[in-house]
Amino acid sequence: MPERVEIFEVGPRDGLQNEPRAIPAAEKIALIDLLSQAGFRRIEAASFVRPDRVPQMADGVEVLAGLRRVPGVRYAALTPNIRGYERAHAAGADEIAIFASASEGFSRANINASIEESFRRFAPVAAAAKADGLPMRGYISCVTDCPYDGPTPPGAVAALADRLLALGCYEISLGETIGRGTPQTVAAMLDAVLTVAPPTRLAGHFHDTGGQAMANIEVALEAGLRVFDAAVGGLGGCPYAKGAPGNAATEKVAARLADLGVETGLDPARLSEAAALARRMRGGPPGTAPLGAAS
Ligand code: HMG
Ligand code: MG
Repeated sequence: MPERVEIFEVGPRDGLQNEPRAIPAAEKIALIDLLSQAGFRRIEAASFVRPDRVPQMADGVEVLAGLRRVPGVRYAALTPNIRGYERAHAAGADEIAIFASASEGFSRANINASIEESFRRFAPVAAAAKADGLPMRGYISCVTDCPYDGPTPPGAVAALADRLLALGCYEISLGETIGRGTPQTVAAMLDAVLTVAPPTRLAGHFHDTGGQAMANIEVALEAGLRVFDAAVGGLGGCPYAKGAPGNAATEKVAARLADLGVETGLDPARLSEAAALARRMRGGPPGTAPLGAAS
């Protein structure tokens, strides 16, 4: 096992984007500020996509403007095209992410573009990010399974990782979008991707729908990956992948890593405070009043 692993907190974006309640920007800011105190180096705070497609993320400008920024923490945003990039840059995002899909069906449903068309949209984003000196991350969705096209061939993921690196992404986050991946399919996918990228340029992004997120993380750890995306409180899902609730929960991943003797640098007390807030934002366990609910 490695000595240290970084958890990239994606709860405020991947977690909240699918929540049905309109969550006020102030609540998102409170969550991110709490996370900023917990020891993360990178927090995905917003996405600059079509507000009519993902209304929950429409207030990214307000959220980024309202943060009590902690030095050393990078606040990241998703940018599907140049319009999204311009909005994210103006709002003060410290780094951006483009997001592609390894399957055509999900690409069309999620970003209204074929895989080829999505790369035509990414090219100006990559050029602008380079000119502005903003680090750019690349996501690949559906790395083992697609809700529309079925199992994803590992070679398709490797080919996309290669293209995203060539475009200038400093890291590729491998998105197991719908939580159907198993240690076997994840291992086969990683074998293929590791032929084009070293593990130091890869991150694992697992959803826990099928209860396999932790097992899949452990497979990826063995393959040499040292960065994992997770969402505090297990928030999450994707509006275009039906039945995809729940990213791997940050506090559970951190606790399991601690059991394995792997350091994350996160403060467990702050993390559990943030997880409690996240659960309340989502509606919370039975008996707890959701934030914003009429009392
Ligand atoms: P499109 O409709 O193809 O865009 O959207 P278009 O260029 O044809 O423009 C149409 C209209 O949208 C225009 O407005 C644009 O200005 C506007 P009009 O002139 O008609 O008034 N528009 C925008 N407005 C604001 N911000 C923008 C933007 N772009 C165009 N950036 C687009 C393409 C990708 C924007 C759209 O399909 C979209 O917003 N999709 C939502 C994507 C999304 O947020 N999905 C969830 C995140 S991905 C995910 O969760 C997976 C991940 O976690 C990894 C994993 O788990 O696998 C990352
Ligand atoms: Mg995701």
